[in-house]
Amino acid sequence: MSPAPEREAVIDLDAFRRNVATLAALASPAETMLAVKADAYGHGMVPVARAALESGARSLAVLDIPAALTLREAGITAPIFAWMHDPDALFGEAAEADIDLGISAVWQLDAIAAARASKAPRVHLKVDTGLSRNGATEADWPSLVESAIAHDRAGAVRLHAAWSHLADASPADDAVALAKLRRAVEVAESLGARFERLHLAASSAGIREPEARLDLVRFGIAAYGISPFDDQNGRELGLEGVMTLRAPVVSVKRVAAGHGISYGLTYRTERETTLALVPLGYADGIPRIASGRAEVWIGGRRHPIAGRIAMDQFVVDLGDHPVAVGDEVLVFGPGHRGEPTAEEWAGFADTIGDEIVARVGPRVRRVYRGER
Ligand SMILES: Cc1ncc(COP(=O)(O)O)c(C=O)c1O
Repeated sequence: MSPAPEREAVIDLDAFRRNVATLAALASPAETMLAVKADAYGHGMVPVARAALESGARSLAVLDIPAALTLREAGITAPIFAWMHDPDALFGEAAEADIDLGISAVWQLDAIAAARASKAPRVHLKVDTGLSRNGATEADWPSLVESAIAHDRAGAVRLHAAWSHLADASPADDAVALAKLRRAVEVAESLGARFERLHLAASSAGIREPEARLDLVRFGIAAYGISPFDDQNGRELGLEGVMTLRAPVVSVKRVAAGHGISYGLTYRTERETTLALVPLGYADGIPRIASGRAEVWIGGRRHPIAGRIAMDQFVVDLGDHPVAVGDEVLVFGPGHRGEPTAEEWAGFADTIGDEIVARVGPRVRRVYRGER
């Protein structure tokens, strides 16, 4: 059997390390926690987590306990924070593995206690400061705090932090959220709680709102070289794109004017031209909505994607530009060679750069540069 075409996401760990170091220096004296959830935003969790800890991050953030346990199994000993739990969550295993747990409800504390682990996990109590996802509402906060104090006294948990997550709607909304977190801390302290850490900011507020940095910033997307802002790109923030998505050309043909391309024949060649077929499609995370808008880099310049992006492939119209089977296609990358960036793809697809990198699918092999 011949191997599948080499669809590759090349992950530049040195660029990632430089980004983490830049962000950690910016946030200092606040600590840097690096978000490696969603398989490190599609970049591959374990190598990225190691690189983060090598370059200034003190701790890691993942969504849930299974991801945290995977990092422990990979030998990572730094603090790991996980905050999304269902009723069957492995709280006992998390406690044994020293995972820090984000806590939004009393049932989670009761479930930790019921697991009767040999160690008490550190818990970070979450306040809903406006995003309306998890986190205790103002009404539920006192009972969550009282329960945490009781479980702390009983030795089931160690009350460690209070935290929240911002809606990134505007600096004014973020200021309201910060005030809500501070108010919740006052309420908790009046009930007898003592917190060693407060945290709120992710990339956006971590970069632009010093007052929101508190004791630590949970940086995510910026470390992957993608700006959290609409008015400044990653490069303007001093960050470098980390992922390059590429594949070889697998078919080349010369066609006449009026030739229809891909499903629906939504694109017709205007004149005699050369078409190249690229073995990446929406099953690999290439957004179909970018059909007719996106460009890719082949042979030293950009060319338009012609017609609809399909599940496994798309067609590029190269005009008279020379191209051969096996030539490299850069879908996106840091932009050093003139290829589009993930941020530009976000523009092609009416989305955010986070979605462009996080959706790169499992058929795309992750290849690491700069592994130590
Ligand atoms: C709780 C939490 N902290 C931090 C982050 C990192 O955010 P960003 O990628 O915007 O830096 C996220 C991502 O959504 C998150 O959910």
